[in-house]
Order: sequence, then structure tokens, then C-alpha cells
Amino acid sequence: MLSKITSCGIIGVDGFLVGVEVDVSNGLPAIDLVGLPDSAVKESRERVRTAIKNSEFQFPVKRITVNLAPADMKKEGPCFDLPIAVGILTCSGIISAESVADTMITGELSLDGSVNGVNGVLPMVYSAFKSGITKFIVPKDNADEASLVQGAKIYAVENLKQLCDHLNGQKNLEPYCVNIEQIFCSDDSKDILDFADVKGQENVKRAMEIAAAGYHNILMVGPPGSGKTMLAKRMPSIMPDLTFDECVEITKIYSVSGLLSNKSALINKRPFRSPHHTISASALTGGGRIPKPGEISLANKGVLFLDELPEFARNALEIMRQPLEDGDVTISRVNGTVTYPADFMLLAAMNPCPCGYLGDGDKCHCTQNEIIKYTSKISGPLLDRIDIQVEASAIKYDDLNSSERQESSAEIKNRVIQAHKLQLERYKDDNIQFNSQLTAPLIERYCVLGQKEQALLKAAFDRLNLSARGYHKILKMARTVADLDQSENITARHLAEVIQYRSLDRKYLM
Ligand SMILES: Nc1ncnc2c1ncn2[C@@H]1O[C@H](COP(=O)(O)OP(=O)(O)O)[C@@H](O)[C@H]1O
Ligand SMILES: [Mg+2]
Repeated sequence: MLSKITSCGIIGVDGFLVGVEVDVSNGLPAIDLVGLPDSAVKESRERVRTAIKNSEFQFPVKRITVNLAPADMKKEGPCFDLPIAVGILTCSGIISAESVADTMITGELSLDGSVNGVNGVLPMVYSAFKSGITKFIVPKDNADEASLVQGAKIYAVENLKQLCDHLNGQKNLEPYCVNIEQIFCSDDSKDILDFADVKGQENVKRAMEIAAAGYHNILMVGPPGSGKTMLAKRMPSIMPDLTFDECVEITKIYSVSGLLSNKSALINKRPFRSPHHTISASALTGGGRIPKPGEISLANKGVLFLDELPEFARNALEIMRQPLEDGDVTISRVNGTVTYPADFMLLAAMNPCPCGYLGDGDKCHCTQNEIIKYTSKISGPLLDRIDIQVEASAIKYDDLNSSERQESSAEIKNRVIQAHKLQLERYKDDNIQFNSQLTAPLIERYCVLGQKEQALLKAAFDRLNLSARGYHKILKMARTVADLDQSENITARHLAEVIQYRSLDRKYLM
């Protein structure tokens, strides 16, 4: 007796259909599992056997062969427990084959027959739905994320017995529904930090506004206690809101990483990731024996905050260069390559020297060599990819003590959103969203300079010894500043403002 159940595996952040074929025939009792299973999949034999027994079904005393097709793709994790169990029960005649036709089944089994949640259910349902499957049986724990796929019919199951009763028509389950509108708009903004708390530092706030409006990378340099970390944490509060599709794209990454809590089925805020500087290169970019998205992918569409930038391992920083250009990261492993999205804003903070007080009167006692050693940990190529470099100077007593009202995040965000709207409108046929994503040909089209502006830029190019990339970055940023100004043309004033954001490396970073 042979049965075939449809299930799904994960590669990168996408699902691929897996046919779970189960054959039960006469012979010595045993279960064979083939089709490139990893060790978690191999162990499912024991879980399936015990779960079926403990759900008060007969486990066939026969030779059982399970094949996971396609045989050349690696299958990982315990998500094939449930389809294998259903396949065996179908062969034993407990479940009818028609009841599971055109249905994708996924889930991990406990020894007592209950169905546990698995990672990656959203990408599985998403991909399977695209290839024409409409019915899905998923663990109750994953039902919320699964129902984000509009049009898919989701059945949430808690245990094997309940599933069999449903498939046999004894006790039908209702399709699971969530109010997508409600989770998309759910707002816990009470705990979001606000720019109104930060006194002074107007130049840094302005630079962050530009970064948020054009999705530019930004580096803050300043002495300890000047408020760099405090400012950085407030970046998400001024960034443009996400669309529903972007939320789903981010949620897929968190689903694959097993980082979705039941409470938040949909990630509806831009992520803010701030890994500690002891992080390894592979935790930052993703990888491992069973590849997992790294911090740069978890920060997709959001902010990756690297505090104390020079303290990070050099190789960890260098490895980010390619993702910073491409917006994704490709990891090669023995059993194939995976690509994860990594379209993040790099927000970095550092002290100007080891003691931290360079440029703050005569407080600094570092030698020239110490300073060079410290700052040279950040390579030229990485620095070149950071559009905005801004100085956070030591805060003055009067600023700190002033009761002057500071602009709130909502006010700044308002201007950012207006500038973003202009960009969306301008780039609607170009497949990009932000000025920072402009390619060289698009820069030529959208960042046209007048004669006066060209002369200004030429002088800066020579004085600052800019690279071609630096030149393009200035034009992209100038476009953002003009957009914040609601100005059609890039003027000399816009250019002059952004040129100063490229000149810090002359002062501190050599
Ligand atoms: N501009 C500021 N306005 C208000 N408080 C500030 C400001 N700068 C620093 N602080 C206070 O100092 C603390 C340390 O700031 P922090 O952001 O950690 O400095 P840094 O990262 O530059 O060393 C903050 O938690 C905050 O209480
Ligand atoms: Mg800090």
C-alpha cells in the first residue's frame, strides 16, 4: 500500500514542495527513511511510531519505507513528522487518501501525539500557495503566521487524534482565520523611544533625518556620553512605515529563524538589531552547518546598529561589504548555496580614539600610533560604503539643562514621509524605493546638477580625495536633502550640506 502526502522544506527563506511517499508492505518490521534527511528528520521514525501508538491507533507491524522527494534536496528539521504519520495512517486505511489530496501538511510530533510548532511555516505556506495548493494543515502554534497568506485555507491542529477525526469527517475543524488588518495596524508604540528625550545634538539629529529619508548608512563619531547610543536607538521611530508585503518579507526571515513569538504573528515595525561587538562573522552574516539568517538579514528593511564599531572583529566587518552593496547575502555550504535578503541600514557609532576624548579640548592622551591603530580597524572600503559621517560633540551643560522643547520623533517622521513619497513617485518604474538605491545610470537621470553645483562638487572631489563611490554617494544624499526640502532641483546649498558629511574621515579616520 502506497500513499503520497505533500509537505514543504525550506531553502533560504523560501519553501519548496516535498512529496512524502510512504510504502507499507509485508516484511520484517522496520522503518526506512530515504531522500537526504538530516539527523532531526531521521529521528522522526521514533517520534512517529510512539505518537501513533499513544493516539490509540495501531502501528502497522510491517516494513515501512518513507521517501522524501525530490531526493537531491537536503531535508532539515522535525517538520516532516506529521506528514509521515499521516502517510502511515493513510496506508493503514485509517485516513482516506482523498481527504489529504491537495493539502500541505507540516508539524512536529511529541511522543504523546500532540503537534508542536516548527520553523518556517510562513514561507512554506507562501510558496506552496503560489504553486497552487490551497489547503494547509499546520500546528496550532504556527496558525497565525500561516494565515497571513491571503486566500489560503488553514487548519490548525493540536494533536494527531484531532487531525484524524477531522480528516475522517467525524469532527470537522473550522478553517483558521485572523484579522490581518488588525495585526498589521496593531501598535505598541508606547514603548518606542522618542527624539524629544535627546537634548541638543541638532547636527546629528539632522543627519539621522537624512539617513531615514533616503535609507543611507550613517556613522556617528564622538566622545563617550555624548548620546550616540541614545540617538541610534531612536532611529526606527522616524523611518517610513512598512507596507504589508514588506512586513510579510521580514516575517518570513523571522519565521525561518524561529524568532516569531505567538504574540506577534506579523513583524509590522522596522527591525532594529544591535548585536554585541563580540559577535562572530557567521552570526553576523548568517551561516552555520544548518544555514540560518544572520543579524544583517534579521535587520532587513530596518536598522543594523553596530555600537563601538572598531571593537568588532575586522573579518566580521569586512564580510558585510558585499551585502551592503547588493542587499542580500549568499552563503555557500557543502550541500548547496542559500541566499538571504539583507537590505539593511548600517548605523554605526564609535569613539574617535581609544580613550574617547580626541577633539575634546586637551583631554585626550592617546598617542598618534594608538589612534591610528584604533581607527584603522575600520577599512577604507567599509568607510566608503557609509554615506553619512557625523560628529556628535560632547554635550554642553546649558544644552543638557535647558528646558527648551525638543522636536518629537513624530514631527521628524512627518518630513521623512513626505520626502519618501517623492521618491516612491519618482522611482515607480525603476523598481527602487530610496535614493540610496540609485544605480549609476539612474543617478545620471535624477541627480542633474547646474553649473554652479558642478563647480562646487569638483572642488570637493579634489579636496576630499573622493572615490567614484564617494562621488555617487554625495549625489544620492544631495537628492535626499533636496527631497526633504521638497525641491525639484539639487542646489548648491543641498550639496554643501552633504559634502560636510563626507569630510569626517579627514579629521579622525586615517
Ligand atoms: N543629548 C543628550 N540629551 C539627554 N541625555 C543625554 C544626552 N547625551 C547623553 N545623555 C545621557 O547620557 C547617557 C549616556 O549616553 P549614551 O548614548 O550611552 O552615550 P554614548 O553612546 O555616546 O557613549 C544617556 O543614557 C543619557 O541619559
Ligand atoms: Mg555608546
